[in-house]
Amino acid sequence: MIEFQNVSMAYKDRPVLNHVDLTIQDSEFFVLIGSSGCGKTTLLKSINKLLNVQKGKLLINGTPVDRIKTNQLPNLVGYVVQAGGLFPHLTVEENITLVMRIAGYPSERISERVTEMLRMVDLDPDTYRNQYPSQLSGGQQQRVGVARAFAVDPPIVLMDEPFSALDPMTRAELQDEIHTLQKKTKKTVVFVTHDMDEAIKLADRICIIQEGHIVQCDTPERILKAPANQYVTDFIGANRLWANPEYIRARDIMRRRPITISRGRTVLQALQIMRQSGVDSLLVVDGRDRLLGVLWLEELMSEKDGSGSAETYLSDDYVAVEGDTTLKEIISTIDYDVSGIIPVIEHDRTLVGFLTKSSLLATMSRQFVPEHTAGERSGVIWAAAAH
Ligand SMILES: Nc1ncnc2c1ncn2[C@@H]1O[C@H](COP(=O)(O)OP(=O)(O)OP(=O)(O)O)[C@@H](O)[C@H]1O
Ligand SMILES: [Mg+2]
Repeated sequence: MIEFQNVSMAYKDRPVLNHVDLTIQDSEFFVLIGSSGCGKTTLLKSINKLLNVQKGKLLINGTPVDRIKTNQLPNLVGYVVQAGGLFPHLTVEENITLVMRIAGYPSERISERVTEMLRMVDLDPDTYRNQYPSQLSGGQQQRVGVARAFAVDPPIVLMDEPFSALDPMTRAELQDEIHTLQKKTKKTVVFVTHDMDEAIKLADRICIIQEGHIVQCDTPERILKAPANQYVTDFIGANRLWANPEYIRARDIMRRRPITISRGRTVLQALQIMRQSGVDSLLVVDGRDRLLGVLWLEELMSEKDGSGSAETYLSDDYVAVEGDTTLKEIISTIDYDVSGIIPVIEHDRTLVGFLTKSSLLATMSRQFVPEHTAGERSGVIWAAAAH
């Protein structure tokens, strides 16, 4: 666990970090994001003692960093910098080995470990161990940088914009790999980026810094849905939420107050309610609002005797989703040949709202049109769906 307690830092008289309170949990993928010069690198460097904390306290696993011996640090904290930060006059193997020697890694195991690490980052050890950084592509250098940081197996790895110099394909590939690696090794990763898409893709929590202050620190989902201020909103950018359908849930987009009916009504009454409300289906609930099934207009129409019980027509031919279900899952589960209402229920089947195909369409259209226009349009579509 890494704890910042009221930490402030300045270069000469110029404050760079202001009263930072922050706890990074073990095994967390923690992403720091903010505009250039806001203090991200300063924060990172204070964790591995490249800069000394001037005010406040910084603890790693309960121990103040200034009490951790410098030669102990590599066993605790690995560091990956932009463009790999490899020593150009050392080979790949020597670059990795250097950190291992400083950390006091058993020398008889070093060579074997280098092989293991190069395999881990998907570089063929025989081909690459004796090459110099200038002989490698940017992505390969970055992989060596990651191998070096992981070599002595430190529980914490700091990564300062490690992928920013890479082309989008290599970048996406390395993002996937580091995500998998972090989950597998359960390391605490503190990762700095400028790129909100990268942050959303990787983070358990995103921490947004503005001029040395933490403005928001939360899960990607909550940051997308409830940005703390305009700076965060600007950082997120327009329509980002809609570009991440895994963060949009049924409960966020559903319509509330579906037209319901209790069991025990007659067919005539059910038809009457449908006519009045302009709907072609009714959701049947019990006394505690739990969904029992759906009545479809088409089926009720076949009934000759209106005084018969509507319950006879109670259908389980519908797809319901839970409030937590993501837009992505909704889209992949609903059958596009089936028309009509999609009830939204909680785990205990309590009915909380509903979706229709047109409401889903409205939601998705927000990805392509500005937010405010989408709102107006969806209003129209909602109204059309209801009548
Ligand atoms: N050694 C230094 N001496 C004086 N000022 C510095 C020094 N290092 C950084 N600064 C200043 O401190 C502020 C924070 O720098 P820092 O490197 O932490 O920002 P950053 O968020 O990492 O920016 P970037 O996204 O550009 O890497 C900046 O205004 C920078 O100019
Ligand atoms: Mg920086």
